[in-house]
Amino acid sequence: MAQRPYIVGNWKMNGTRAMLSEARAIDRAAQRLMKVEVAIAPPATLIHAVHKEADQIWVGAQDCHQSESGAYTGDISAAMAADAGAKFVILGHSERRGGHGETDASVKKKVQAALGASLAVILCCGESEDVRDKGKELAFVTKQLSASLPKMGNAAEKLTIAYEPIWAIGTGKTATPDDIGAVHAAIRKLLVDLYGAEQGAEVRIIYGGSVKPENARELMSVPEVGGALVGGASLAADSFMGIAAAAADAFEE
Ligand code: PGA
Repeated sequence: MAQRPYIVGNWKMNGTRAMLSEARAIDRAAQRLMKVEVAIAPPATLIHAVHKEADQIWVGAQDCHQSESGAYTGDISAAMAADAGAKFVILGHSERRGGHGETDASVKKKVQAALGASLAVILCCGESEDVRDKGKELAFVTKQLSASLPKMGNAAEKLTIAYEPIWAIGTGKTATPDDIGAVHAAIRKLLVDLYGAEQGAEVRIIYGGSVKPENARELMSVPEVGGALVGGASLAADSFMGIAAAAADAFEE
């Protein structure tokens, strides 16, 4: 795969304008690391400000509504996120599925809405600890993804899948390289089945869940891992760009 590694920071509900200096530092460091595609998804309140500050990195949203506009208090549409400067949107994160009742069906509508507004999509999937303990993660993840992915036309190039085992998010635990490799291989197979060999191979699959500068090189060396979705460690430029540098090393091997 000739693609550059894709390292995406998910700031979640963290950051006020005081964090713009960190975004600037990330952007400057990314300009010195052109082998890596670096992006951040700040809270919606900061999308426009980060977009204004950034020359190199992509800026994205953490969610969008499935409708274009209307009486949906507190929500933002894909077109609004794009208007603020977002180039992509993270959809179906387990914190949205779990905390906001999002279902595979609603996530699928959001993916369609985002692609319709010309946003790239990072679609998240991943199993709970209970599913993992039962050894059912491959079946779970492929079922979740099949139900969350719409027909693509030729939009597969705008799609990234993020595999994030729920038990690894914010916990300091990570899946083993072998386990990650097995899930990513199953996701690749599904993508090829759904979108054909050529388009299915184009979709990036990234890993998320307690990725840190210390473990990034090992995780980014796993076959079919095309980058990382980073929560906690993306809030400081040093640790986030440490992960990006490790990814550059891993991809050069
Ligand atoms: P974490 O979060 O890196 O803090 O585990 C990852 C995510 O939820 O995207």
